[in-house]
Amino acid sequence: MSEHKVEMTVNGARLCATTEARTSLGDFLRSDGGWTGVHMGCEHGVCGACTVIVDGAAVRSCLMLAVQADGATVTTAEGLAAPDGTLHPVQQAMRENHALQCGFCTPGVVCTFAALLDRNEQTNEAELVKAMSGHICRCTGYQGIRKAAKALAEGTVGQGATA
Ligand code: FES
Ligand code: FES
Repeated sequence: MSEHKVEMTVNGARLCATTEARTSLGDFLRSDGGWTGVHMGCEHGVCGACTVIVDGAAVRSCLMLAVQADGATVTTAEGLAAPDGTLHPVQQAMRENHALQCGFCTPGVVCTFAALLDRNEQTNEAELVKAMSGHICRCTGYQGIRKAAKALAEGTVGQGATA
């Protein structure tokens, strides 16, 4: 298998490594970058756990090869909070609405919501809920995540849990 030098910016830091052509972006981020907030679940594009943001778009990192992301700007869930630790509004909404239990699906969900809202802060509740359909959560029954989506759409994050 051929090896390739791959370079990208991940959460503001340069990541450069040589990897096999078959290495997924998710495995590359975890193994070569140490970004273990990227969770690998099904590894065939179904569960959404591995979702990261590549050049502004939510991407399933198990379906993208690391070599395809050469030169890209990547954000994982670890890169969403501000440098002082202030949570991203999506993270805050998830926290306030008890939208996670084991947390395995959570990095992917927050990246999907963050990518949508960063592109269009007017993204409505229906659009956020539709985006949830790309994520499997075995714990929460989805209600907390739906409440987080509602809070984000209504701009009530920071005011406590959504009814
Ligand atoms: S691990 Fe990528 S979609 Fe499940
Ligand atoms: S919180 Fe456990 S899978 Fe979603």
